[in-house]
Parts: sequence; structure tokens; C-alpha cells
Amino acid sequence: MTNTPVLDIRDYRLNFNTFDGVYHALDGVNLSVGKGESLGIVGETGCGKSVTVRNVLGLLPSPPAEVISGEILYNGLDMLKVTPEQMKKIRGIEIAMIFQDPMTYLNPVFTIGTQMTDVILAHQKALAKGEKKSRKEARAHAVDMLRKVHLPNPETQIDRYPHELSGGMRQRVLIAMALSGSPKLLIADEPTTALDVTIQAQILDLIAELVDDMGLSVILITHDLGVVAKICDNVAVMYAGQVVEYGTIEEVFGRPKHPYTEGLLKSIPHPGRPPEELFGIPGFLPNLLNPPVGCRFQARCSKAMEICGTPAPNRNNAAHDRTVLCHLYSEGFDDA
Ligand SMILES: Nc1ncnc2c1ncn2[C@@H]1O[C@H](COP(=O)(O)OP(=O)(O)O)[C@@H](O)[C@H]1O
Ligand code: SF4
Ligand SMILES: [Mg+2]
Repeated sequence: MTNTPVLDIRDYRLNFNTFDGVYHALDGVNLSVGKGESLGIVGETGCGKSVTVRNVLGLLPSPPAEVISGEILYNGLDMLKVTPEQMKKIRGIEIAMIFQDPMTYLNPVFTIGTQMTDVILAHQKALAKGEKKSRKEARAHAVDMLRKVHLPNPETQIDRYPHELSGGMRQRVLIAMALSGSPKLLIADEPTTALDVTIQAQILDLIAELVDDMGLSVILITHDLGVVAKICDNVAVMYAGQVVEYGTIEEVFGRPKHPYTEGLLKSIPHPGRPPEELFGIPGFLPNLLNPPVGCRFQARCSKAMEICGTPAPNRNNAAHDRTVLCHLYSEGFDDA
């Protein structure tokens, strides 16, 4: 499924040490993204999607976060072990992230141009190679990037302050800023959740276009399965800190195996589906201060069996590089 991975997350376990006790946030997460591939991570709020990707760029404060096991390999380099100096050369230059709320990541007291120019010059300083760009050249590069993300009139918009732009325009600016260092991997964590529906569609189209144009590898986190189906090659379905199903969009969405994936797919409204057929998965995520013994989905699963009180096997169908974490497939499975 995946060509040589650009990012390879292996057996990643992470806890949060909280006042209430140890919160077992991630339990043996395995994911990878190949060159030019896009991976969607889906699952309901609180299932560990953001926590999975934040430490790719060292963005989880420790404490409270504690890595228990695993590796996050970026082209073979373990991002959990890099020095601050190495991180400076990777953050924004090799790997960039965009988040849900653009306003949080833009400084309200500086113009877009000042912020973008600073970022471009900082990347250059971190790399300390090639010809040094002047501020004027960095600004010209910023204008080019704003044009690339289809911000109207970039030559004048660049001198605006963040509050003078709409939410959709601010997200375009953040995408331009994220891509200004020509990263190889873009991680977009719910990039459109804070925007209204028509703007969401435009931003997603933009991401899809940039992925094609720039040959980027992308991790797209969203609770919108339709978006993942449209943009991504592969998908990881997360539940309560575990990847419960993983494979190509065709296989996972076309022939879901895990009862949680089946439930998620049945809960999507679409034209032609009568409302009475819409299905909500009953119950809630388990409390990971005290995770259930065995399958983490068992309290909500209509197919639960006695054996589900023991940890479920993670079965891989080697022919398709597809995995399912569920006792129903303890003998393995076909993908035909
Ligand atoms: N700094 C933190 N301290 C304690 N718990 C945290 C922290 N960050 C996230 N969590 C918990 O980890 C779980 C997964 O969070 P997150 O990855 O943000 O979920 P989502 O899938 O919605 O992105 C949540 O229950 C959240 O409360
Ligand atoms: S392991 Fe059992 S409880 Fe868990 S998803 Fe599979 S069938 Fe359901
Ligand atoms: Mg999140």
C-alpha cells in the first residue's frame, strides 16, 4: 500500500500523567505515509488523532506527556530523539503543520507580510546554506505563496492584519506560510473545522490541488469521512488511542471490517439515504484513565463476544497491507 515511507510511526504508546492518574492516550499506534501519498486519520473527537501527530514536531509538552514506547521515523530519523538543533532544520522546512484555528497561530499585531517574511527568513537561517535572501526577496516569495493559495490581490492583502481577513482567507495565509519552506510532509489537523461549509470545501480543494502540484505527502486529520474519501489514498481509523483499521480508502471504506468503521460509515448522512437509516454508534469512548481490559470498543460493539474481554489481535493482510484490530479476524481475513 505504502511506498518507501516518508513518515513511519511504529508501536507508539503515550500516556498523560494527570492529577487524576495515568491517562493511556495512545496504545501501540502504527501508521505510515509514503512519498506523495496522503493519509487520512479519522475517528470521533477525543480518540487520539491530534495526540498521534503532535510529537512529529515535538509539540506535546512533557510532562504531562510521557512516551512509553515507539518511534516516529521521518526518513529514518527518530523524531522522538532529535536535538533542538535538528528540529529547527525540520520544522517548517521538511515538515509543516496547519491547525484548526488560524487566528491562534497568527500574531494579531503584525501584518501578514511581516509574519510570512519572518518565517521565510527564519527557515533560511536555520538551514544556513544557499544564497541569503533579502527581506525584499522574502516578501516577493511570500506574495508568490499567497498567489499559489489563491488569495485574491496578494500584493495588497499582504499588508493587512489578520483581523482584516475572513476565516477562510486566514487559513489560506496559514497554508501559504506552512508551504513557504517547501516542506515534504504537510500535517493538517482539522484544517477546516472552524470554517463554514462552502469555505471548507474551497480549502479542501486547495489542499488537494497543492498535494498534486507539489508532490507533497500529507496527513489529513478530520472527522469528515467524505473529505478523506475525496482527498486521501489511505486511511487510519482510530478509536480510543488505537488504530483499529488501516488500509486504502477503497478497502477500508468499500469493505469495512472493523465494527467501529462499519458504525462510522453508517453514521454519514448522504443524499438518497433516508434519515431513518442513519445510525449513531450508541455509548461513549471509554475512560482511558482506566482502559477496558481487552478490546477498547467492546462496550459499544453489537458483535462483542466473550473473547473480546482479552486484547484483540492486530491482523495484517499482507497482500493489501491492511490491518484490522478485532477478534472477528483472529484467523486473518481476505480482501476479495
Ligand atoms: N495535555 C494533555 N493532558 C491530558 N490529556 C490530554 C492532553 N492532550 C490531550 N489529552 C487527551 O488525550 C485524548 C485524545 O486527544 P486528541 O488527540 O486531542 O483527540 P482528537 O482525536 O479529538 O484529536 C483526549 O481525551 C484528551 O483529553
Ligand atoms: S474485538 Fe470484539 S468487541 Fe472489539 S470490535 Fe471486534 S467483535 Fe467488537
Ligand atoms: Mg484533534
